[in-house]
Amino acid sequence: LRVVLLFGGRSSEHSISCATAGGVLGAIDRDRFEVIPVGITHDGAFVLESDDPARFALDPGHLPEVVDNGSRVRWPESSASRELRVTDAAGERSLGEIDVVFPILHGRFGEDGTVQGLLELVGLPYVGNGVLASALGMDKHFTKTALEAAGIPVAPWVTLTRGALEADAELWNRRVRGLGLPVFVKPARAGSSVGVTKVSDWSDLDAALEVAFAEDRSVLVEQGVPGREIEIAVLEGRDGVRVSVAGEVVVTGREFYDFEAKYLDAPGVDLVCPADLGDGETFELERIARRAFEAIGAEGLARVDVFLGDEGFVVNEINTMPGFTPISMFPTCWLNTGLSYPELIGELIDVGHA
Ligand code: DAL
Ligand code: MG
Repeated sequence: LRVVLLFGGRSSEHSISCATAGGVLGAIDRDRFEVIPVGITHDGAFVLESDDPARFALDPGHLPEVVDNGSRVRWPESSASRELRVTDAAGERSLGEIDVVFPILHGRFGEDGTVQGLLELVGLPYVGNGVLASALGMDKHFTKTALEAAGIPVAPWVTLTRGALEADAELWNRRVRGLGLPVFVKPARAGSSVGVTKVSDWSDLDAALEVAFAEDRSVLVEQGVPGREIEIAVLEGRDGVRVSVAGEVVVTGREFYDFEAKYLDAPGVDLVCPADLGDGETFELERIARRAFEAIGAEGLARVDVFLGDEGFVVNEINTMPGFTPISMFPTCWLNTGLSYPELIGELIDVGHA
């Protein structure tokens, strides 16, 4: 199969997507798949990228990026064609017909249904979630609204816009303080903890709101859930919907599992897989993960992040294109369930193409 690997993108998670691309390029079964790497620059240009996984390594001194090399990849002009074309210094040429697109994009303009909409428009099969689930999963306010409507426990929250705050600051302040400390302040549409602050003292709230409003016009203030942080992977493959063993994010020497801990090897966080759960807990978690997957209308894959507190599981969020580097939680959970990283990539592409 001829697969377009689509990565980078306009969001604040551009580099994470590039790191994911590096992982996939390094592991994909080249006997089965011919890869056409297409990067999206920070400005949204589609460029023909390097096939070399080493170019996209993520380490504390280096955030990988798609740079504008001047080439431009063009999608088919109608749904009647599957031909990709590129223009570069050598002129215009065909990249041939493609079978499926694998958009490993995180964050807005990629994980939020926009790219999925583009691919629907031009009639190209693609891996993963469709327009609706991507859009719902990207927005933490609407994810929680859909989960709550499906009877799935979520942490209490208040959603703010600057307009609402200006119109009635006192009302919103009362609602926010009613959540109790600590709270987490999060942009509605962001990922990898970008723009997220833990607030343990109300005097820090305004600064945290500013940080979050820099990422999005809609901001959530969420009640902190004391308990363990567990993540579980869902895969909709040839045999229906499957859930993986769970993994745990063990935070010891940090406030929370922030960007530095996720990607820059900052100390104080360990990923443990499989998580130490009893049979009853495992059963309940699997049930919640399946119901959450259904509640947003997910397809293909998702990672469901939960807290395990005194009153059981509370769903924190659903990621419709979870971090996917070889050491990320999603592939780690599958590895511990018996599916290797190359097998996982193959399965996703096969299902996306079918
Ligand atoms: N948003 C990041 C990539 C994740 O959830 O894994
Ligand atoms: Mg998360």
